[in-house]
Amino acid sequence: MKICPDIQTIRKTVAGYRRAGNSIGLVTTMGALHDGHLTLMRTARAAHDRVVATIFVNPTQFGEVADLAHYPSDDARDIDLLKAEGIDALFLPQVDVIYPPGDETIVETTQLANMLHGKVRPGHFRGVATVVARLFNICLPDAAYFGEKDYQQLQVIRRMTRDLHFPLQVIGVPTVREPDGLAMSSRNVRLTPDDRQAATVLHKSLTKAETRVAQGTTVQALTDAIRADITSEPRATLRAVDIVAAESLTPITGAITDKIAIMLSAEFGGILLIDQKEITP
Ligand code: PAF
Repeated sequence: MKICPDIQTIRKTVAGYRRAGNSIGLVTTMGALHDGHLTLMRTARAAHDRVVATIFVNPTQFGEVADLAHYPSDDARDIDLLKAEGIDALFLPQVDVIYPPGDETIVETTQLANMLHGKVRPGHFRGVATVVARLFNICLPDAAYFGEKDYQQLQVIRRMTRDLHFPLQVIGVPTVREPDGLAMSSRNVRLTPDDRQAATVLHKSLTKAETRVAQGTTVQALTDAIRADITSEPRATLRAVDIVAAESLTPITGAITDKIAIMLSAEFGGILLIDQKEITP
């Protein structure tokens, strides 16, 4: 695996792949790799001749300095995992490579970034769109792979890619879960054993929601039922239950008759976790 710390090296590497007629899949990460990331890598691997991964803990998407400071990081371990997955090249830049001194350009999906989780984490999706646009421009892939777990992020990236005419496909990959249903996340390692156990309430409630939708329900009744599920877990602090139209994320009311997305966020011992599910009635 070729490790590229700067833009010139990764561009030259990718240009070589392209000259050889290879298609290129990209998986962007902030490191602390888990099976969810490795599933993205394997999905890209199955579809492309070459897979490029990035590890960059993007400071502009963290609201609180403490959250950034606590973000887990172990490059040596991550590099071993990427090598084992047969990744061809890793872009591993320092902050000033992505954000050069005097940097002042931002990318923002003005509606999608500022609703739902974007209201709870102001500036977060602007930071995501800004870094992903830069990574796309640097790595120039044919397709990029993102987890459906970060549902709003996926929609922001799809919209940004379309609006800025990036010549690449954005592929959403289903959420990878622990055997007890907890969505895989780099944050899970920071949970205490009791909070880790309590956090399964998110997936349990989403599974029940599927049955509730199949039986026929309204947005309000489903929201109330999910709130009741999560608040019945004493270790959970519910942050948001959003039931919206799938993909557009527009608000909906009344009986659920079209495909919806349920987006949940809750804290367990101060660690914010999210989960989501698309449901077609
Ligand atoms: O999902 C992530 O890990 C990050 O938000 C991303 C897409 C790599 C941008 O920093």
